[in-house]
Amino acid sequence: MKEEIPFSKDIALAFKNEPPGSWLLDLPEGCIRLSSGYPEPSLVPVEEVKSAVVRLLDEEGDLPLHYKGSPRMPKLAAMIQERMAKRGVDLTEQEILVTSGACQAIDLVSRVLLDSKAVVALEAPTYMEALEVFGNYTEHFMNVPVDENGMDTTRFAEMLANRKREGLTLPRILYTIPSSQNPTGTTMTLERRARLIELAEEYGFLILEDDAYGELNFGDAPRLLKALDRGNRVIHIGSLSKVVAPGMRIGWAAGPEEIITTMNWFKKDLHHPFGQATMTTFLEDIDFDAHVEKLSAAYKRKCEVMIAALEKFLPPAVTWYTPEGGYFVWVRIPGVDTMEMLPQALDAGVSYVPGNYFFQSPENNEFLRLSFSYATDEEIVKGVELLGEVAGRNI
Ligand SMILES: Cc1ncc(COP(=O)(O)O)c(C=O)c1O
Repeated sequence: MKEEIPFSKDIALAFKNEPPGSWLLDLPEGCIRLSSGYPEPSLVPVEEVKSAVVRLLDEEGDLPLHYKGSPRMPKLAAMIQERMAKRGVDLTEQEILVTSGACQAIDLVSRVLLDSKAVVALEAPTYMEALEVFGNYTEHFMNVPVDENGMDTTRFAEMLANRKREGLTLPRILYTIPSSQNPTGTTMTLERRARLIELAEEYGFLILEDDAYGELNFGDAPRLLKALDRGNRVIHIGSLSKVVAPGMRIGWAAGPEEIITTMNWFKKDLHHPFGQATMTTFLEDIDFDAHVEKLSAAYKRKCEVMIAALEKFLPPAVTWYTPEGGYFVWVRIPGVDTMEMLPQALDAGVSYVPGNYFFQSPENNEFLRLSFSYATDEEIVKGVELLGEVAGRNI
């Protein structure tokens, strides 16, 4: 089939990969979902979004339903600009592009910056959908290890120095999720953040800072890489999926004007005027600081429930990082192949995502990602108990 269709030769690379979403699990009925990186349903602001839709249509009639959309739309970028300023990043209007989620921003950055010769440096492990996007554009990667303090910048510096010495191509971009990383839940220390910026200057790469979980902190908010970025090397990517609703799919990119303008050429007017106008109205109506505080407190509590359950039910050899924010706990079961163990867990009634999916080139299969965001407290405790039994049989 593929041979008969005159696909662009530029997408041949994409066909070398697994189809996207191969990590999505077919969950048996009633299975406790510790695999789902979604907000807890009760924390999705349904009533507030409903009121926003009604007010928007009452005030604007058919306007938000046209291509051109609501006069409110430019306000969304202005609101993001204001939020970013509060977090230490001053941006002009030309340095922000509202996108259909962080994922579209990752894709647009890749479209305008990558080609099949480009090298992408990324954390190992990292967000699997980002791996899928980058894999559509290049097959050259540098995999930088992560420990409890986030990306290991000392190791990265050695890797860069080695590449330079050997005359190998240096990375064009580094993709990182510095705060409450998916999947490890780790947060990069300030020292490492500063070091990363130095390395970008020294080796001439751009940093793609994915801040999807950056507002969900269980303690002090970390400094954004973009806030440390004197040389304008950071493209910051944000999302409202984790703090409002993923189905509205609103994100943004903020970075050097030339890059943002070029991304906008390719994005054209392919946004969702109605969704953006609804989000703007929603944000007009709520106290966003209070909303984020409420969510952070709820997820912090759920995280504590999960950690307490892990301590109680998992065999002593099992380890994990204690998250400082976000949705996830990264668990290591030494000597156990979590891919092979998965059917047993699903049979027992609990799901997780095997760690393999988060590595560009998996080295061992001992990891798994648990999410405390979606399940209820009772489900978290029961799910971890079931996981403990399954792990105990395999260890
Ligand atoms: C690190 C990371 N970036 C981006 C996204 C997706 O964001 P969006 O829904 O805005 O595309 C996710 C969602 O799981 C994520 O974990």
